[in-house]
Amino acid sequence: MVRTRGKEFDAKAISHHYDLSNEFYESFLCENMAYTCAYYRTPDGGLSQAQRDKMDLVCRKLRLSPGEDYLDIGCGWGSLAIWAAKHYGVNATAFTLSREQAEYGQQWARREGVEDRCRIHHMDYRDFPRNHTFCKISAIGIIEHVGIANYPMFFSSVRERLREGGLFINHGITRNKFWKHTSQTDFLLKNVFPNGELDDITHMMDVMESQGWEILDVENLRLHYARTCRHWFERLEANAARIKELVGERKYRIYRVWLACSSASFYSGSLGLYQVLLQKHQISRRFDHPGTREDIYRFFLTPDEEPRDAGA
Ligand SMILES: C[S@@+](CC[C@H](N)C(=O)[O-])C[C@H]1O[C@@H](n2cnc3c(N)ncnc32)[C@H](O)[C@@H]1O
Repeated sequence: MVRTRGKEFDAKAISHHYDLSNEFYESFLCENMAYTCAYYRTPDGGLSQAQRDKMDLVCRKLRLSPGEDYLDIGCGWGSLAIWAAKHYGVNATAFTLSREQAEYGQQWARREGVEDRCRIHHMDYRDFPRNHTFCKISAIGIIEHVGIANYPMFFSSVRERLREGGLFINHGITRNKFWKHTSQTDFLLKNVFPNGELDDITHMMDVMESQGWEILDVENLRLHYARTCRHWFERLEANAARIKELVGERKYRIYRVWLACSSASFYSGSLGLYQVLLQKHQISRRFDHPGTREDIYRFFLTPDEEPRDAGA
């Protein structure tokens, strides 16, 4: 089912999910407050390290350098924008449609001492001023809320805000081509993500290309998300008593079944998680960004020898 959606509907849906209680999310996400797929460099790695590695992976794929203007769309509690400002020296702007998340992120940026280089706003992406442009942009886990009918508008408005030759990374959940709605998936969408809508990766990339993007790199992190959801599930169960006090028995059970089903769906392949790195076209005969992935992985192999803020 392809639905169109308005700002009011989205604002209510986002508030329903994300304004539930910051303490509730703190109790099952790790201290990074990252609410998207982590990146496990070893099969038995822990959640906190994997979320830090995911943030580095995104920053490295974007080749962030000190002083660059960087935008994170759908920033959650601000973890990635704060990380990028602190470790990569960028001038970060971020926004979320959740008021509670934005306030949490602003306080967190102050505690980290980066409030002058990391501004977090409560705003719908459709209201972001058109006269601001950025060197690099990320959208980590917002596409699931955008709605398929809005993809052309979403991908073209991101492109308008990127400077020529700039990089954009879109990280989001997809469904396999043969996935179908069932009463169970409809129950979970209605109760967990009222404005959630998933697409398959080939259609999503088709829209990206139609909006003028050059696709540079595509990576499927499906099994990483299966493990992330399993870790969230385990933390939810371990903190059950406090969570029931915060949000009640019904919500606890709904989140429990949602995390279990999500983990199983990523393991089985009915859901996927793709990072797609895109470039705003420019006519160029030279490499504006490294032509291989070596610089990304070199960092992970020798993190102590290469400071994070050394740039690309
Ligand atoms: C799954 S969370 C991901 C948060 C964060 N990027 C992370 O990795 O932890 C999705 C985010 O998208 C934001 N979002 C959804 N619809 C939005 C909209 N129309 N405008 C701005 N942000 C939106 C939500 O408020 C939330 O912060």
